[in-house]
Amino acid sequence: MKKLIRLIILVVFTLSMSSCYYDQIEEVELPPGTVVEFAADIQPIFVTYGCTDCHNGTLDPDLRAGNEYSSLVPEYVTAGNADGSELYTKLANEGHAGLDNNSLALIQEWINSGALNN
Ligand code: HEC
Repeated sequence: MKKLIRLIILVVFTLSMSSCYYDQIEEVELPPGTVVEFAADIQPIFVTYGCTDCHNGTLDPDLRAGNEYSSLVPEYVTAGNADGSELYTKLANEGHAGLDNNSLALIQEWINSGALNN
């Protein structure tokens, strides 16, 4: 009986540990040569994820339509360096706003390819 209880504890413990792995980000590879555009690819992410429910001018960055770029660059985005950009690390490493991996890959590529207002 004691053995059975130990076994159950072990199984439950193991399962609860393995669930942590789902928190890790899987890298999404965009097709080579993908050109990411701020207007076509990045702004829609802010809309889809309702960023402006909170970032509506009272909370930085201001992500309302028309304000996003100047509010993000250069304060939260270092052109060419996604890992050094708070926008990316906040969303990718802290899981802020629960972005899907494809959206994260787009933001990463947009920053690394120069964070243009394109
Ligand atoms: C439910 C409200 C809410 C939503 C939705 C939300 N945020 Fe935030 N965000 C916050 C709060 C509150 C903070 C400040 C506290 C913190 O750093 O977590 C913050 C902080 C940030 C920061 C860091 C700001 C700083 O000065 O350190 C960035 C960048 C950011 N959010 C981007 C986004 C983006 C992009 C989205 C949408 C994909 C988003 N947020 C959606 C509430 C929200």
